[in-house]
Amino acid sequence: MDSTDAVILVGGMGSRLRPLTLSAPKPMLPTAGVPFLTHLVARIREAGIHHIVLGTSYRAEVFQSYFGDGSAFGVEMEYVVETEPLGTGGGIRNVADRLRAETVLIFNGDVLSGVDLRALLATHADTDADVTLYLTKVEDPRAFGCVPTDAEGRVTAFLEKDPDPGTDQINAGTYVFRRALVDAIPPGRPVSVERETFPGLLAAGARVFGHVDSTYWRDLGRPADFVAGSADLVLGLAPSPALPGPTGPALVLAGARVDPTAHLSGGTTVGAGAVVWAGAVLDGSVLFDGATIGPGAVVRRSAVGFGAVVGAGAVLEDAVVGDRARIGARVELVGGARVWPDVVLADGAVRFSSDL
Ligand code: GDD
Ligand code: MG
Repeated sequence: MDSTDAVILVGGMGSRLRPLTLSAPKPMLPTAGVPFLTHLVARIREAGIHHIVLGTSYRAEVFQSYFGDGSAFGVEMEYVVETEPLGTGGGIRNVADRLRAETVLIFNGDVLSGVDLRALLATHADTDADVTLYLTKVEDPRAFGCVPTDAEGRVTAFLEKDPDPGTDQINAGTYVFRRALVDAIPPGRPVSVERETFPGLLAAGARVFGHVDSTYWRDLGRPADFVAGSADLVLGLAPSPALPGPTGPALVLAGARVDPTAHLSGGTTVGAGAVVWAGAVLDGSVLFDGATIGPGAVVRRSAVGFGAVVGAGAVLEDAVVGDRARIGARVELVGGARVWPDVVLADGAVRFSSDL
């Protein structure tokens, strides 16, 4: 399918994932053992597309130092850097001079999905569309772009982050563009593809179609989704050709040490060089490389940053621990708590229950 170019938008700051995104941009955070973008790149390659252009801005250098020219990943990778973020539409326009094909497949860089990319491209061709949007249904659509369609599958409106959208069908963050429509986005200034380009195309009567798919879909923009997405990859609920091991209850990377009395479940990843001590319980969590979990600690649905240490008997539920932070023994962090990098919490310093 070298008649199609792929573009991945990866210029966002990932602010909802702070403090993890202080050290790496969101698409480069370790997810089931590899930087998240590795899974997407592998799926693009599996669909037969080999030319990928990354639209970067925040921490642009991190992408290039990992993927290089792409050859180690079986693709040709190019990078375009926005010195000032140009937004999603501006980011698409900004890569126009790197495109070679008439059909452009554009991805938000933080979406984990099971959609059949060849089927998406087939819908685009069959409907002779100008733009085709991959759509999915979610329980709470208010955090996304809501996209109603008519009986023929033609998009009738695009309502970005609408508090009362009237449909549960959302923009799943992958688009097929006819090349000329990329060139038609105004250059050199910030443009939101969701708030400006799509509503403008609809008003102008362009052929914008939806491709509805109900396989796996998740946006990894928030900590709970980032952790759950990683776990779903390990469990095999979300498909990826790039998983560095068999699917199952846990993925333990090379060089990690896990005590045989520790219990790992729910798609937990233990990063390279991480250490898990006796009796620790890890459920649905992500330990970045070099993290340490003390004896008897319990870590559920949480992310533990590079080189961070969780003390003996500590409890983490739905928590995010920044790189190199030290969580003292018996500390309890629950309900979305975020600890910044290098912070040291003394033993018993933060509790949720009162029975210390
Ligand atoms: N190059 C570039 N420049 N990329 C950007 C910029 C920019 O200025 N701003 C954001 N991005 C990238 C982000 O890195 C991310 O991969 C993607 O664009 C989407 O940005 P998010 O910040 O994750 O947006 P969202 O999740 O709130 O909403 C978007 O995705 C939803 C689906 O996951 C919208 O497209 C919604 O309509 C959609 O439903
Ligand atoms: Mg997002």
